[in-house]
Amino acid sequence: MKKKILVTGGAGYIGSHTTLALLEAGYNVVVLDNLCNSSVKSLQRISTLCKIAPEFIQGDIRDRTLLDRIFTSHDISAVLHFAGLKSVGESVTTPLNYYENNVSGSINLLQAMKQAGVFDLVFSSSATVYGESKVMPIREDFPTGQPTNPYGRSKLIIEQILQDMAKSEPQWCIALLRYFNPIGAHPSGMIGEDPNGLPNNLMPYISQIAIGKLKKLSVFGRDYPTPDGTGVRDYIHVQDVAEGHLCALNAIRERNGVNIWNLGTGVGYSVLEIIKAFELASGRTVPFQVIQRRSGDIAECWAAPEKAAKELGWTAKRSLPEMMSDTWRWQQKSPNGYRD
Ligand code: NAD
Ligand code: WQD
Repeated sequence: MKKKILVTGGAGYIGSHTTLALLEAGYNVVVLDNLCNSSVKSLQRISTLCKIAPEFIQGDIRDRTLLDRIFTSHDISAVLHFAGLKSVGESVTTPLNYYENNVSGSINLLQAMKQAGVFDLVFSSSATVYGESKVMPIREDFPTGQPTNPYGRSKLIIEQILQDMAKSEPQWCIALLRYFNPIGAHPSGMIGEDPNGLPNNLMPYISQIAIGKLKKLSVFGRDYPTPDGTGVRDYIHVQDVAEGHLCALNAIRERNGVNIWNLGTGVGYSVLEIIKAFELASGRTVPFQVIQRRSGDIAECWAAPEKAAKELGWTAKRSLPEMMSDTWRWQQKSPNGYRD
């Protein structure tokens, strides 16, 4: 029987796109998700798209009994670990929740993996671990910085735990994938990002304005030392991010220890450029006002993608217009996300 990949958080935004890519590539997939920030509908839509259903277990990565049961009853060869809480603002108001879910949850998963003899792990990290880098583009060998919030710190702590663990137990083969700013949706418009309540991130906020659910974008600051004064980020299509996971999964088979790869395009766009690009793709106007900077934001952040290109044979292929039109298609097809 073919070995399986366990995908924690596989019903979520990036996890669902990656689960679909895994199924399409012929993997058997078991998804573990507690659905605290997602819906089982994403998995149903995946099944419609590729005519194969991932196995779904509704449960929590903090539940050790459940994890042990999953590892004994399935022949798992590797884990893609997406599960975790990701709202920066919420992490400031409920830090313990974030450390418990993200850090304790990850430790629990690692202990269960070790007991089961499963040592291949791909972990969802974030460019936030670089803190405020003075030098662009950001390479993987740059020192990590000081994340400005508990969410970012939880990612950095997990990275450090993985480093310590891999040093003492050389059988681990780990990929730390540091995502920059994933946006977009599957080109079918069937799966995409479905934020709970008011979106915190730029792309879903803009697309909800275009569909008429929100009125006006607040641009957080126009006095940054960037070409137009607004923040610059490395936006990357979620399909490219998903494909990066498949490449990392392959690569760690022959690479012990911790391997760090940026998943970014290497190109930064400003907030105003994103607004314009979305208006072009959607034919809708996105009204905005400039307000003060958002606390904790940095001026600019984009990746050096060369290490991933060289070692994974992976580069982001999809263009900015594609990111915009795929976001718009998803938003139009599912104006209320998975709540319809
Ligand atoms: P998401 O919230 O859509 O997906 C996370 C999934 O994990 C959700 O389905 C949620 O229900 C599940 N989950 C949360 N806590 C759980 C727990 N204790 N047990 C089981 N399931 C649990 O988020 P996403 O955007 O798909 O992000 C996936 C991962 O990538 C996260 O770890 C996130 O921190 C990381 N990341 C995301 C971004 C981004 O901009 N989206 C950037 C960098 C890193
Ligand atoms: C992008 C740009 C804002 C909203 C966050 C997390 C990070 C990572 C990805 C997980 C910035 C501006 C935004 C708005 C705006 N997540 N903006 N008005 O802040 O780069 O990264 O998501 O790891 O950890 O911090 O992404 O989409 O929130 O912001 O002007 O209403 O858009 O100031 O310049 P960010 P974002």
